[in-house]
Amino acid sequence: MNILLTGGTGFIGSHTAVELLEHGHEVYLIDNLSNSNIDVLEAIKQITGIKPAFSQIDLRNYEELFGLFDHNKFDAVIHFAGVKAVSESVLNPLKYYDNNVISSFNLLNCMDKHDVYKLIFSSSATVYGNSEKMPLTEDSPLCPTNPYGKTKLIIEEMCRDLCSSNPEWSIALLRYFNPVGAHPSGLMGENPLGIPNNLFPIIAQVAIGVREKLEIFGNDYSTPDGTGIRDYIHVVDLAKGHVNALDYVMKQKGADVFNLGTGKGYSVLEIVNTFIKQNMVDIPYMFEKRRPGDLAVCYSDPTKALNILHWKAKKNLEDMCKDSWNFQQHIYYYQKRASAYYSKEEE
Ligand code: WQD
Repeated sequence: MNILLTGGTGFIGSHTAVELLEHGHEVYLIDNLSNSNIDVLEAIKQITGIKPAFSQIDLRNYEELFGLFDHNKFDAVIHFAGVKAVSESVLNPLKYYDNNVISSFNLLNCMDKHDVYKLIFSSSATVYGNSEKMPLTEDSPLCPTNPYGKTKLIIEEMCRDLCSSNPEWSIALLRYFNPVGAHPSGLMGENPLGIPNNLFPIIAQVAIGVREKLEIFGNDYSTPDGTGIRDYIHVVDLAKGHVNALDYVMKQKGADVFNLGTGKGYSVLEIVNTFIKQNMVDIPYMFEKRRPGDLAVCYSDPTKALNILHWKAKKNLEDMCKDSWNFQQHIYYYQKRASAYYSKEEE
């Protein structure tokens, strides 16, 4: 099948492209390259032997997006594109409603007008907000506390309303927990432009010396070691979940929602200590005050994805730490070689 991936050069999009290609699908990637690098196409080619079709398109450009659907026949769409920094969304909500909601509206409109009714949407555990009751199931209360999470819930509702309006639609809403790690080859991973927000890329940068130390946001939570607990899931496991979700949407109609997590929670200190032990590196850290908006504990009950999508995360925390470190070393030494090359050029 020919699958369109919006945000296809991003962290999860690129890993999903690899899994789809390895399952015999064709993929077409589009991305506005605001938070990813076109070099990832070469990495996908090195891993799979296939360089995917790519167009630099911003989903807010309706005409351009409509033209893409005019000239290509897509069997399904996986919608990753969007902005995802919780703290930034609080400071700049309109950027999030524009990039996430308006973009998604344009995409759904183009799909509808070209009779493309199979969709997988990249949603997030942030739609649950500050839930006390753990683990989170798909029926847990939906109360997002920041604009980023609210945009994800609005898009989920748009998808549900579309399915109610036209039985042809088939949509899987995938709520990610904390995607981390990298492709085992070290050729692809989490490589955000600018300063990362998330724990794993920051730990990896401390380990390689790009950053001096890790600031641990709060050690006074009601958790065993006082630091925040999250459900970290290896990005390759997450990508495989999309292949299963694609099989599912091709066979059924209507909208359905699935938690994609491991069902296990690890604290910040457990992550740090596992990363140190697994990679034999040093991670200097200091405790800082809590980060506004952070939850104490957040982890999933992924039973529904196992029962209906026949999917379960397989990789463990050691794999996540090993692959994250391996990728960090690749990009660091690649960047060093590149800067050495260019400085020689200037001589
Ligand atoms: C994890 C833990 C922090 C950085 C976010 C988004 C969520 C999803 C995943 C998109 C927390 C602690 C972090 C640091 C720290 N993205 N931490 N020092 O906040 O759980 O989730 O990313 O869908 O939507 O909200 O992930 O990696 O930022 O934080 O102590 O420098 O690490 O307090 O306990 P988070 P995170």
